[in-house]
Parts: sequence; structure tokens; C-alpha cells
Amino acid sequence: MSVTLLAIESSCDETAAAVIQDGNILCNIVASQSIHEKYGGIVPELASRAHQQHIIPVVSQAFLQANIQKKDLNAVACTTGPGLLGALLVGVSFSKALASSLGIPVIKVNHMKAHILAHFIDEPRPAFPFICMTVSGGHTQLVLVKSHLEMDVIGETQDDAVGEAFDKTAKLLGLPYPGGPLIDKYAQLGNPNAFLFPTVDMPGYNYSFSGIKTAILYFLKKNTTIDPDFIEKNLNDICASVQFALVDILMRKLKRAVRETGITRVAIAGGVSANSGLRKTMECMREEKGWEVFIPDFQYCTDNAGMIAMAAYYQFINNDFAGWDLSPEPRLRIGGIV
Ligand code: KG4
Ligand code: ZN
Repeated sequence: MSVTLLAIESSCDETAAAVIQDGNILCNIVASQSIHEKYGGIVPELASRAHQQHIIPVVSQAFLQANIQKKDLNAVACTTGPGLLGALLVGVSFSKALASSLGIPVIKVNHMKAHILAHFIDEPRPAFPFICMTVSGGHTQLVLVKSHLEMDVIGETQDDAVGEAFDKTAKLLGLPYPGGPLIDKYAQLGNPNAFLFPTVDMPGYNYSFSGIKTAILYFLKKNTTIDPDFIEKNLNDICASVQFALVDILMRKLKRAVRETGITRVAIAGGVSANSGLRKTMECMREEKGWEVFIPDFQYCTDNAGMIAMAAYYQFINNDFAGWDLSPEPRLRIGGIV
């Protein structure tokens, strides 16, 4: 029997739908919400409203592009968490309504597991076990991936996520939201050793990004007091130095995890895995340390429904269906809810 699933992602500020058939992605539609740019961050209420507006057109586009009809579906999958409550509610309610009208089951997908399972969309697919560093706007985790369904978080940030550190730095530099990709862009033109930012070493495989965020704030305050044009004159060098420091923090713990577990199959996932500095550093690890490195295609780094569809496919073949009491789980974690 052929298995065809529709997957919906609405956890943050992308409304996305994908269709997967027998493990192959037929389409991956994403509608981004530009409304947040002028606020310098995501406004949850506006995100929910934009999801409401986008969801039907996005799903219609998915059916059209995949060249399937509703009656071809075997199940509908959606992200239930982690994410923004109101945003998740749109995708979860839509999925339940569609599935119940078609008499087919719903599948609940953990957004963080899905970021990792994006590595199974295309070749090369990692063998198990592997370590995945999941780096996004809301999370920074080191995950030991034992199978498509079994994963353990071995380390994570104790405060801000690395994507937040990129975005908040960008805000201090007067760049629009989300600033991560812009820091990356300017960093490519600057000197990563121009400025040095202090970093704190956390116990085990844990991370902390609040200290460096404060250090950047005071560094900019001090220098713009001396010279009001400091940012304008040094934008490329500031971005390159900040990116260098953030990637260095990420890599120190990742290298330690590889050394101590002996697992040299290593992947990165999540929005920040689109960062050119991080991608280059991972390539270096392949050359220098002989790691087997897995870097996702750009379209599967930031939030998308293709990854939700991939996770849903493995859940479908393992008969992992949700009940009709399915509801958003904003604080869902790999391994449960805190
Ligand atoms: O995974 P994602 O799309 O959403 C969350 O689940 O959070 O990640 C979004 C984050 C944002 O913080 C964004 O600035 C960051 O990923 N990001 C980048 C780059 N592209 C996206 N950060 C640094 N460099 C990039 N090229
Ligand atoms: Zn994400």
C-alpha cells in the first residue's frame, strides 16, 4: 500500500505544508510572515492571525504541487510543540478538522525531532547512532540520535538559544528581524579576529549565551559613546567577530561530545545550521578530524513542513497515531514535557 501524508507546521512564524508519499517529499510549501520585521521580533498574536490567513492557501498549493487530492491521504500530521501556543493551535485545529472530515488519523510531531529527521529527506542519510547539534531561534541542543524515533538530549542551553544571540545582536546593530542571516552576510566580508568576546564554559555539554549577549551590548555601548559611527564603520568586523565567537561556543561542546562518546557521525540541524561560518567549520572537522558530517540542504534548515512530513512518515509506519484530544504542547521536549 502506498502511504501519502499531509504535514502542517505552524509553531512559530512560518506557515508550512508538505506532502510525503512512501518517504519521498512531493512538495514543501512555506509562507513566511514579514509582519514581524518592523517589531524586531515575533509578536505571538500577529503570528497566530497570519497562520489563520495563510493556512488554507498554503495547503491548497501543496495539493496542487504534489498533484494529489484529499481522498489520497492516509493521515494528517502537525507540529504540536514546542512553539507558540496560539500559532500551534492553528495548525493543530486545522489538521484535526481535516483528518476527522476525511475519516483518517492524525499524527503529532515534535518540532525538534523533526529538525533532526530532516536529514532523512535526501541522501546522504546518517547511520545510527549519530550526534546532532540542533541550533535554532528557540533551542540549542546536543542530541544523541539512536533511531528515527529514539533520541536523548545530552546537553542544551541553560538560557538563550544561539539563534536568539544572533537575532539580539542584530537588533543592537540596528538590523531588521530575523537578523541571523544578515549577521552571516556581513560576517563574510569582515575579520573574525577584529574583536574578542569573552565566553563562559558551562558544565558538561550545556551551553549559555546570555553572557556573550551582555558582553556584546556593553562593547557596543562603550564604543558608540566614543564614536557614534562605530557600528557603521565596523559592521562587517563586528558581525564576523560575533559569528566567530558564537560558532566557537557551539563547536567546543560538540567536539567534547564527539571525543567522549566516540561517535564521529555528526549532524547539524535547525535555522542556525544555515550559517556559513558553522557550515564551514563542520566541513573543516570532516577534513581535520575525519568526522562523517551531515549538513542539511538550505530549504530544510529553517522551519519547514518537509521535516514534519519526514518525522510523520516514520511515526506512521510505527503506528504512532494521536487521539482526537490532541492539542498544542508549547513546552514539548525531546523525551517529554517539562
Ligand atoms: O529553526 P528556525 O527556522 O526556527 C526556530 O525553530 O526557532 O530558526 C530560526 C533562527 C533565527 O534565530 C534565525 O536568525 C536563525 O535561525 N538563522 C541564522 C541563519 N539563518 C537563520 N542564524 C545565523 N546565520 C544564518 N545564516
Ligand atoms: Zn525550528
